[in-house]
Amino acid sequence: MNTKILIILILPLLSLHLYAQDMQTNTDHLTGEIRVATFDDENRLIRPDNVDEWVLLGVSVGHGYPKEGEEAGFTLDNPGKMQVIQMEPGAYNFFKENKYYANGTMISLAFYETLEDPEPEIDGLAQGELATFEIHLLHKEKYPDDRAFFVYRGDEDLTAKIEPQENRCVQCHMAEGDFDGTFSQFYPAVRDILSERKD
Ligand code: HEC
Repeated sequence: MNTKILIILILPLLSLHLYAQDMQTNTDHLTGEIRVATFDDENRLIRPDNVDEWVLLGVSVGHGYPKEGEEAGFTLDNPGKMQVIQMEPGAYNFFKENKYYANGTMISLAFYETLEDPEPEIDGLAQGELATFEIHLLHKEKYPDDRAFFVYRGDEDLTAKIEPQENRCVQCHMAEGDFDGTFSQFYPAVRDILSERKD
């Protein structure tokens, strides 16, 4: 086909697509896909730099996974880490409206140390330094497991490679997570939204 004719045919389609892509939230309204996750040349997920603006889903204490062969043993002397779970805001808005996760949804889990000597020393536990940061990226078109997991050490790692398919992350999440491989049962805002589902 003549190149000029091809361009004339394709241009309107392209502009329609650009129009359909909401630049502010990076949501493609034609496909419902959230396009916020960015990758480097080696397909490592670039650590989002605005997690402080993500929506808080839940917080738990000492809820970490025991290492293989280790007993779970939460006590006040040995509280383990504090976990903070957040969702990327564009994905949260989509979820709130549609009651399911859009392709491209990112949910983070940050593990914090508990402060050893809080000042002033009041009862209970306070949040210390960030130890590990993990991302669950849901995408049914892109990944055979419908999801991918990424682990960053503390504040150091700025990119993370994808955990290989069929890893233990996927196994536990699919077996134990209440909704679409996520632990919605522990996130109050998500529980509320899911309770409005019609099915
Ligand atoms: C033995 C079970 C288990 C395994 C294995 C596991 N997780 Fe989780 N994961 C959980 C639980 C439970 C939560 C809920 C968070 C909480 O309450 O602390 C969670 C929550 C998460 C979340 C928050 C979003 C969501 O899906 O609910 C991320 C991100 C996450 N895990 C990443 C990982 C990564 C990365 C791996 C593998 C390296 C992994 N998990 C392996 C049990 C598991």
